[in-house]
Amino acid sequence: MANARNAQRAVLLALTMLTAVSGTLAVAQSKKAGAAKAKGPAVAKSTPEEIASAEETYKTKCSICHAADGNSPIPNMSFADGEWRHGATVPEVVKTITNGVPGTAMMPFGTQFSAGEIAALARKVRTFDKKLK
Ligand code: HEC
Repeated sequence: MANARNAQRAVLLALTMLTAVSGTLAVAQSKKAGAAKAKGPAVAKSTPEEIASAEETYKTKCSICHAADGNSPIPNMSFADGEWRHGATVPEVVKTITNGVPGTAMMPFGTQFSAGEIAALARKVRTFDKKLK
């Protein structure tokens, strides 16, 4: 009888510990998720080829509307005026280039270029805004 009670106690203790450990793990995991969220979604790495290709692409496909120096006279299209209607972080700019801006001349480029080239394009257009790092 005493043995059965001890066994029961041991099981309860084990369960309590398990709950405590998994609780701690859950907290640690949600903290990690929070940190990832603060930085925004992961952005693809760009190879040197993709960075070079993005330079060419900017000249041939983007500068027509956004100007060679990124400072289009049309405010919504200027990268140099410090206004980022769709967000200025790298993940946000990647998203704008990938999906475009529906209802405007800004078309989606997600299917035309690799993720690495789009990341390089996002970094390039951000350099026109001297206030961004
Ligand atoms: C046919 C014209 C046109 C072309 C070509 C074009 N864009 Fe745009 N783009 C626009 C317009 C118009 C807007 C403003 C949309 C709006 O009203 O929010 C815009 C907005 C943007 C924005 C958002 C700026 C902000 O304030 O948040 C980014 C980033 C961008 N374009 C990148 C590019 C890149 C990179 C290319 C080339 C791959 C490109 N665009 C080619 C017309 C164009």
